[in-house]
Amino acid sequence: MSDQYSVLGDAPKKEDLKKLSSNTHLTITNLSAGYGKMEILHDFDLFVDKAQSLCLIGPNGAGKSTILHSIYGFTNIFSGKIEIEGKEITNLTPAEKLKTVGIAYILQDNSVFPDMTVEENLLMGGYIKDKTEESYQEAEKIFEKYERLRNRRSQPAKVLSGGERRLLEISRALVMKPSILLVDEPSIGLEPKYIDMVFEILGDLQNNEKKTIILVEQNAKKGLQFADIGYVLVSGQTAIAGGGDELLQNPDVGRLFLGG
Ligand SMILES: Nc1ncnc2c1ncn2[C@@H]1O[C@H](COP(=O)(O)OP(=O)(O)OP(=O)(O)O)[C@@H](O)[C@H]1O
Ligand SMILES: [Mg+2]
Repeated sequence: MSDQYSVLGDAPKKEDLKKLSSNTHLTITNLSAGYGKMEILHDFDLFVDKAQSLCLIGPNGAGKSTILHSIYGFTNIFSGKIEIEGKEITNLTPAEKLKTVGIAYILQDNSVFPDMTVEENLLMGGYIKDKTEESYQEAEKIFEKYERLRNRRSQPAKVLSGGERRLLEISRALVMKPSILLVDEPSIGLEPKYIDMVFEILGDLQNNEKKTIILVEQNAKKGLQFADIGYVLVSGQTAIAGGGDELLQNPDVGRLFLGG
């Protein structure tokens, strides 16, 4: 796989990556991480501001999901640091991260419980929270905001369309009131009108609710159009980084990932 991508040259330096953000919300420095003894990410750095969006693109198996897994706490971390607003969170468990620092992870796979109602699915997002009253309030806010879910709140989730299901998955994460959303392939399996809907919702969360968003997107064009900054990941390292628009104009990115 690396041959095709070897033209991309040396990884950008930490200083180059830092320039893409200003008052960093989440920082990853010199991270080496993987599964079991296998190292997938090598000396990886990432910087993202509050209310900024960062899109990871790259070939299958490059380690994009592994970055999200590492932030959330699903990998073995061999070395390096993950910090939120200067507080180190490298070794917190996923439950601790969700609860104390507000990181929510929206899975790549379909994770809706089909036989539970839309409302029950939504409240599952708050299962880990001590104050369930707060979860109910958050769920109400979501129903106020999204008519598509409100109209089906008492129906089993299996009646939802693919786009509505993705909306439910994103909303379920919001019940925890996270400040950082990790979103793995929001557009996968969706027809174009739903893809646009999902990106509109993510845009609303970033701009109006000031969420920091790190997303992985196979649809590089959509992802880079949406995101403020993009990293191209190859074999566990960042090969190119830049503003979303800048990467859309980059000829190597065009040829390798935009079908141009
Ligand atoms: N749970 C796991 N246990 C062991 N190895 C894993 C696990 N998950 C992923 N890997 C391996 O880590 C490497 C990177 O996988 P990852 O899922 O991060 O890639 P990706 O860039 O998200 O790819 P895709 O575009 O296909 O989703 C792959 O070689 C994969 O086989
Ligand atoms: Mg993946």
